[in-house]
Amino acid sequence: MIHPVLLCGGSGTRLWPLSRKSYPKQFADLLGEDSLFQASARRFACAGFADPLVVTGDPFRFIVTEQLDAVGIRPAGILIEPEGRNTAPAACAAAIDVLERDAEGMVLLLPSDHAIPDADAFRATIAQGVAAAESGQIVTFGIKPTRAETGYGWLETGAEAHGALTLERFIEKPDQARAETLFANPRYLWNAGVFLARADVLVRAFQTHAPEILKTVAAAMEAAKEDLSFTRIDPALWAAVPDDSIDFAVMEKAGNLSAVRFDGHWSDLGGWEAVWLESGKDSDGNAVSDNATALECRNTLLRAEAPDQELVAIGLENVVAVAMRDAVMVADISKAQNVKTAVKVLKERG
Ligand code: GDD
Ligand code: MG
Repeated sequence: MIHPVLLCGGSGTRLWPLSRKSYPKQFADLLGEDSLFQASARRFACAGFADPLVVTGDPFRFIVTEQLDAVGIRPAGILIEPEGRNTAPAACAAAIDVLERDAEGMVLLLPSDHAIPDADAFRATIAQGVAAAESGQIVTFGIKPTRAETGYGWLETGAEAHGALTLERFIEKPDQARAETLFANPRYLWNAGVFLARADVLVRAFQTHAPEILKTVAAAMEAAKEDLSFTRIDPALWAAVPDDSIDFAVMEKAGNLSAVRFDGHWSDLGGWEAVWLESGKDSDGNAVSDNATALECRNTLLRAEAPDQELVAIGLENVVAVAMRDAVMVADISKAQNVKTAVKVLKERG
């Protein structure tokens, strides 16, 4: 059985001011009615998949239960991390949990902040990786690159085996010069951030490549306490867990990696420009929320997020404006990635 694991404890500062520490982007309805988290959960709420396991932080536990309830999905469990330690400990905890419930189970690690409009095509791609995963591989999913992106992992693909491609190398977040080289080589794909593996294989990969993470996470899981529908991982033991991403801690080091290429549309919504690209637009390229009005504008993203608020833009081009109740951000769309600098400045100002 394949157990979808929804990782949703990240903070997503590049979508400030909509994405906040207390309400990160995966829970916001950035595109359409479902939040990105709800859309991710729905993608695998169908025959052939077990109920999902959610791994999240304490502040988000009720957002998770409310949002799953609203779309009629019952989780198999909700693991609560006392503090975010990045994706490696979260994935490790999930693999341990699944292995306990289903010794032969497979884990499908899923980010909860992506746009993948064609769920059928994506599930078919996951299915292509099952034979390789059964044979003991950790299967990654590759996207055809469109730029020399430094914020992603890159997959060097090789020959075919078990219906998937062997992976020669996994390179997480290269610097700009290296990203340019990888982009020029057609054997490289972007890592979609989705992984499929047998739970025992994943636990063994932690044992080999990140033993300290496995040891500390296993101890903290062992001492976990049930609380309503939540499994609260032990905070004192969790304090000893190292902070790392699964990409650096395991994937860059593992030898048993495969890749399946996904040719459908995929976006990680990593910033406002990506949100604008993914949003429905008028014939002048404006993506405008309720209560926002674009006059003589071209290529704008205008979002009025607070109730009883009006946002009007006149004569603007290539601008993103996001108005919350307590913060307004206006930027050139191509510079909107720099909101993370703004967040830093605001934090320092206190
Ligand atoms: N539970 C939990 N705890 N979830 C977390 C934590 C944590 O501490 N940190 C991040 N997450 C969740 C995020 O909410 C997101 O859904 C997912 O894990 C991935 O984390 P990101 O922080 O967004 O990773 P990334 O975008 O920098 O990189 C990953 O995704 C890229 C594609 O979007 C990597 O896998 C890259 O290789 C990949 O290209
Ligand atoms: Mg991401």
